[in-house]
Amino acid sequence: MLWSPAVMVSLLLLLKCMAVTSGEQQPYKLPLVFPLAKDPNTSLYTIAIKKDATLVVDLAGTLVWSTCPSTHSTVPCLSGTCSVVNQQQQRRCRYVDGGRFWAGREPGSRCACAAHPSNPVTGECSTGDLTSFAMSADSIDNPTKSRNLEAFNTVGACAPQRLLASLPATATGIAGFSQRPLSLPSQLVAQRNFGNKFAVCFPEFVSIGDTHKVYIGLDHGTGGGQRFVDYTDTIPYTPLLTNPRNPGYYLPVKHITVWWNSASVTASLPAGALDVDGRTGRGGVVLSTVTPYAIMRPDVFRAFVQAFDAAVQRGKYSDVYRVPAVEPFKLCYNDAFPLLKRPISYDVPTIRLELAGATGNWSLFNGNYLVRLPGANCVGILEMGAGHMPVDGEPAMVLGVKQLDRNLLVFDLDKMVLWFSSLLDFRWTSCSSVVA
Ligand SMILES: *[C@@H]1O[C@H](CO)[C@@H](O)[C@H](O)[C@H]1NC(C)=O
Ligand SMILES: *[C@@H]1O[C@H](CO)[C@@H](O)[C@H](O)[C@H]1NC(C)=O
Repeated sequence: MLWSPAVMVSLLLLLKCMAVTSGEQQPYKLPLVFPLAKDPNTSLYTIAIKKDATLVVDLAGTLVWSTCPSTHSTVPCLSGTCSVVNQQQQRRCRYVDGGRFWAGREPGSRCACAAHPSNPVTGECSTGDLTSFAMSADSIDNPTKSRNLEAFNTVGACAPQRLLASLPATATGIAGFSQRPLSLPSQLVAQRNFGNKFAVCFPEFVSIGDTHKVYIGLDHGTGGGQRFVDYTDTIPYTPLLTNPRNPGYYLPVKHITVWWNSASVTASLPAGALDVDGRTGRGGVVLSTVTPYAIMRPDVFRAFVQAFDAAVQRGKYSDVYRVPAVEPFKLCYNDAFPLLKRPISYDVPTIRLELAGATGNWSLFNGNYLVRLPGANCVGILEMGAGHMPVDGEPAMVLGVKQLDRNLLVFDLDKMVLWFSSLLDFRWTSCSSVVA
């Protein structure tokens, strides 16, 4: 079943009422800031938010879920929240046994709501009670920069331990960041009424709330230190697209061009090859924090590889050549790319995603795709295989963790635009110089 706006609105109202009646609504509307970490084993980003535990950030996730204490609160099955959960479209997934999840319900919870948490990395899902999680984060007061630890509750699903397979050792679950009403940002926006925006700078922080005052520290190489500028004065934005069948954030990419020095080659794709098909939910270019590298549908990948190779051939360095592929990468070159002085990095082609209606194109500079291996420089973009995908449907392209690292992204869901920085190294700055 698809989402109806009426259900979403009534849920938001319901969450707001819950917040008011339980005395949790804040008298002010300060954004909340959560530190991020990148797990070295899995390359997934985690957010420190629950007591003694972290959750994996899933930009396309619809729910918050975690393993639960054996005794936990429940949500009545005849509540608005429960009907929202029951209307969440089920992902295609392999079911793992949820065990006797009802055994730990608090006494007196006869009619309790069950939910269906899923692990986007393994493609597994299960069943567990809907419950309330105690969380905390710093609220930040922009003019004074003071931070206060605040406690709050979110509604989420309990999940069995088995559902944690392939997640970081410290993680007890997932925090969904999609626009669906039970994602982490949607719930906080409904509770705190502070503007439907969130900012992420991977791998440093997430801030949820009205983040119009994010400042980027820029060093223009004048030796005068950093100058802090409002992000809206320095980075472009693009319209965000939605897919009626999939909860992820989609970009209006029209062409993929590879340029290197004077060479510029556009991947030869039929018109509309990258568009979302609203009827089936297939296609489109979507952001994902649960896949380590970008993935392209085979027809898109073939055209991209041809364009990349042609740009390398026409670029000015003739001693760069293809070397055998190194699994899982298919497109690898020898070690002859020259060095750039500033930022210190390899002089390799830039992959440009040309966006419709945006104030700039999205550039993938070297650090957002180049994988350096012994004797080979590989392009960290994979061809979509027959196996499981981190995003439902069959997107034309998924941008993964490698592509989002060291990028500032500000999601303005009131205006449905995404402000994006591309690799901050190329603006002579980093996420540690971005302040929310
Ligand atoms: C990474 O994996 C190794 C081996 O499985 C494990 O010993 C280590 O604790 C893991 N590190 C983290 C940060 O999870
Ligand atoms: C994006 O790239 C295309 C092709 O080079 C160019 O025509 C267009 O002006 C660029 N868009 C912006 C906003 O710079």
